[in-house]
Amino acid sequence: MIKHINEAVEYLQNKGFETPEIGIILGTGLGKLINEVEILAEVSYNHIPNFPTATVEFHKGKLIYGRIAGKKVIVMQGRFHLYEGYTLQDVTYPVRVMEKLGITTLLVSNAAGAINLNFKKGELMLIDDHINLQGSSPLAFNGVEKLGERFTDMSAPYNKHINATFKAIAKTNNIKLHEGVYASVVGPQLETRAEYKMLKIMGADAVGMSTVPEIIVANHLKLKAAAISVLTDECDPDNLKPVNISEIIEMASKAEPNMITLFKELIKTL
Ligand code: HPA
Repeated sequence: MIKHINEAVEYLQNKGFETPEIGIILGTGLGKLINEVEILAEVSYNHIPNFPTATVEFHKGKLIYGRIAGKKVIVMQGRFHLYEGYTLQDVTYPVRVMEKLGITTLLVSNAAGAINLNFKKGELMLIDDHINLQGSSPLAFNGVEKLGERFTDMSAPYNKHINATFKAIAKTNNIKLHEGVYASVVGPQLETRAEYKMLKIMGADAVGMSTVPEIIVANHLKLKAAAISVLTDECDPDNLKPVNISEIIEMASKAEPNMITLFKELIKTL
């Protein structure tokens, strides 16, 4: 894996991806942060050596290098999901490449269902902690100790200082920002009523199909990490309405401007 990472890093450095400080992963329906980036270089995923690009969707995926508020950022427009048939090592490979390029902070966004019924669709949730329900770990492979500590500490996976700053920014800008626990499932099917009930009993406030693998690897690499969920549907097991993915994407883009404000203002402080 180290050889593969180095090949991708060398390719990207030759394309002008120099000295990035912050990595950003944009979730489903949340691509417009790109409009805030002064773009210096961009590359399609399918041109980057060893990037996982097995699905049609990911021929559209791009890695973008540029500046937001003067800070050098790498933005992943489109991420990899376990439900597309990738492994957890594939899903998190770009995080390892971004770290090798030099990022010290990773910011992640996603679309998620609200398990906590005090949280409404269209609102945002700052992830304070998570529950990994994807059935395995992106660190469960032979040789992981060559890239970082195998028994990675997860006592504070989301950076406390960044989260405090996010909350202050939300307050200043009148943005409702909940805080809670995100549970990651494999998907791609949505949850049954019984599963939503289980997630609530477990202590989850939101559920989605991403983010946790990338955050685990960010902690493996000792990056400062933070993540925000855009709540796209309300998961009330006693009153469950059918949802469809286009509604989820539509709701994500409605809440997107607030997420962009939070990310942009946070980056100014880093
Ligand atoms: N469940 C899982 N993933 C999701 C959901 C959901 O309800 N909403 C958006 N992503």
